[in-house]
Amino acid sequence: MTVSATHIDRDRMRARIAAVLERARLRTMALTDAVDEADLLAQHSPLMSPLVWDLAHIGNQEELWLVRDVGGREAVRADIDELYDAFKHARVNRPALPLLDPGQARGYVGTVREKALDVLGTSELSGSPLVDNGFAFGMIAQHEQQHDETMLATHQLRVGAPVLSAPPAPGTQAPVDGEVIVPAGEFLMGTSADPWALDNERPAHPVHVPAFAIDIAPVTNEQYLAFLTDGGYDRPELWSPRGWAHRQEAGLVAPQFWEREGDRWTRTAFGVRAPLRPRQPVVHVCWFEAEAYARWAGKRLPTEAEWEKAARFDPATGATRRYPWGADEPDQHTANLGQRHLEPAEVGAYPAGASATGVHQLIGDVWEWCSSGFEAYPGFRAFPYREYSEVFFGGDYRILRGGSFGTDEVACRGTFRNWDHPIRRQIFAGFRLARDLREDER
Ligand SMILES: [Fe+2]
Repeated sequence: MTVSATHIDRDRMRARIAAVLERARLRTMALTDAVDEADLLAQHSPLMSPLVWDLAHIGNQEELWLVRDVGGREAVRADIDELYDAFKHARVNRPALPLLDPGQARGYVGTVREKALDVLGTSELSGSPLVDNGFAFGMIAQHEQQHDETMLATHQLRVGAPVLSAPPAPGTQAPVDGEVIVPAGEFLMGTSADPWALDNERPAHPVHVPAFAIDIAPVTNEQYLAFLTDGGYDRPELWSPRGWAHRQEAGLVAPQFWEREGDRWTRTAFGVRAPLRPRQPVVHVCWFEAEAYARWAGKRLPTEAEWEKAARFDPATGATRRYPWGADEPDQHTANLGQRHLEPAEVGAYPAGASATGVHQLIGDVWEWCSSGFEAYPGFRAFPYREYSEVFFGGDYRILRGGSFGTDEVACRGTFRNWDHPIRRQIFAGFRLARDLREDER
């Protein structure tokens, strides 16, 4: 019984891994087939790699981990490892490298995938931390999807006729004005149990969080516009000294991709310019803009622990959930993920995705800036390599949580941690507000 049950479990796991890898590859192909060769080779912004670099880098990481490390197979192209090592070449320098051309890159990722699937078919998926529960396969699927989101950001920066399309994101279904109060107390942050959680999400550890209030929904375009028209970008007292210096130097006057047209504002998304959707969460703002808005509104950004407690803690049971709504995988009723739409949904669009504390849209739509920097959890152990997380701890980064409309569900859960520089705006980032409780609310 035990042996055959194990076989069935392993076959199920293999099928699931193959499906997750296939979903990532279809998206990679869609994002790279959408443009011509010149576009694939071009650098659309100094912040981004040429799309053809991302493509071959996806294949190279898959070759390193699945074909060579897990599979113990011979190298497909050991000669290109150095070219596609993200730590060896800054993005700005990547176009000048002797990269594989689009045809070669497509051939390369196809060959690597065939071999990786062959390794999957023979791997026991147990016996070492790297392969237990298919971890390395899950890590590579997440890696590909993370680059797909990066490539989607490159598409957003690309100038030219629109090449991507998707149905509009849903509108408001439920009122989500105001905030909820999360009482003081301990909750279990991070995870030790999630088989594909990355090293920086581990281990689960108790954290005491003082009582706080957090907004039910992210800040919308309409709300952000009120800050802008109230002179938000011209009032240094709303900004931190560093934020104001950046606002001056970068000439920030509105979120990226916003333009004033007479007395109204438009937003350009993936080559399509349209009037702002007032109830859509604001996106493409940097951490400094979020900080200034929060001061203007008399609130602050949530800490990372507050965000995760609002998302995962169930006050009725004291348990910590995988997702705000529970343990079920996300779907079209709970979260706007996976590039199903090319924009965030209006606030209140996913009542079924609300957390036990009553907070909406924590997963999907826009990454949410938190006040915290990127630090190791107590008991952290680098795995499977230091460069995944450890080398970034303590750097000039701020935490982003919850994923965006461009994040695939395999790379998104209540514990997932993202980080970036506080000046970055090309990512699909917005924010929500929190505050300390007043004496009479405690
Ligand atoms: Fe990468």
